[in-house]
Amino acid sequence: MMRDQADKLRQMAQNVKRQIESEIKEGQGRSRVVVISSGKGGVGKSTLAINLALNLCEQGQKVVLMDADMGLANLDVMLGLTPKYNLFHVIKETKKIRDIIIQGPGGLDIIPGGSGISDLANLKEDELNKLLMEMKKLDRSYDYLIIDTGAGISKNVTAFLLAADDVLVISTPEPTSITDAYSIVKSITSNSYGGNLYLVVNRVSSNAEGIMVAEKFRLVCEKFLGQDITILGHIINEPLIGEGVRRQQAFVQIYPRNQAARNIKYITGKLLGNNDIMNSAAANKSGGIKGFLDKFAGFLK
Ligand SMILES: Nc1ncnc2c1ncn2[C@@H]1O[C@H](COP(=O)(O)OP(=O)(O)O)[C@@H](O)[C@H]1O
Ligand SMILES: [Mg+2]
Repeated sequence: MMRDQADKLRQMAQNVKRQIESEIKEGQGRSRVVVISSGKGGVGKSTLAINLALNLCEQGQKVVLMDADMGLANLDVMLGLTPKYNLFHVIKETKKIRDIIIQGPGGLDIIPGGSGISDLANLKEDELNKLLMEMKKLDRSYDYLIIDTGAGISKNVTAFLLAADDVLVISTPEPTSITDAYSIVKSITSNSYGGNLYLVVNRVSSNAEGIMVAEKFRLVCEKFLGQDITILGHIINEPLIGEGVRRQQAFVQIYPRNQAARNIKYITGKLLGNNDIMNSAAANKSGGIKGFLDKFAGFLK
């Protein structure tokens, strides 16, 4: 009798242990979805997306960068790549997502956007579904899925943001850019965004300006929206960044010791550090690409 009970307890403990182990394993295999966003175009989203992604690769992360600015897809051009296929082919069901992924520099994988075809904001429901189904297949193959979005806050773009693990808002110190960034934070906050929110201030003239603009933005979000935003850092205005684009090479690779490259490295470190802390504090909160897509579909309903 006693022996039976002890066996039962041992069995129960074993089951719990197995369950926890499998949950941990699942959590670890998932991709973290980071969406880069700004209200206005031309503030540095694509620049940050590429260089952040490359820094993450350098830190040993497996990263795929998706060009979701389908109106003006240009990540491939910025890196001097000439993809044969892009998201257009996935949406039109002539290619699978794995067939369109191309190898960028530094071990970075890239999903080229379909330039000028239609944008994320205007995809028809069946096209969107097709894209989401294909994206699901990437879960567990990558540590990070970084999504470079277009400008604006349409319903589809907002749903992308709401579904992300991390939303990284980028702004310059210009008042119009700050106002636009604030509208994004407001729009996701009013839709009960549950992920992490980060801020990067781009094209600052000094460290002092970067710190001041960021801190002001953070306080305004806290005061008027009750929303926490973590400041990841700022990037100095650096004409050589344009040079990188003209040479079709990633800035952090041609000028790794430049101040702006060091700024981006700091930003990467902070993003990674923050995610590490959260990952160890609790079981991985990230639902992976599948979690992202399930949430995304939910918000569109
Ligand atoms: N820190 C910076 N200093 C100088 N120029 C920059 C900086 N960041 C971006 N740029 C330039 O600004 C322009 C827009 O950048 P881009 O990344 O394409 O913006 P977005 O993707 O938001 O439209 C590009 O010409 C780029 O070279
Ligand atoms: Mg862009």
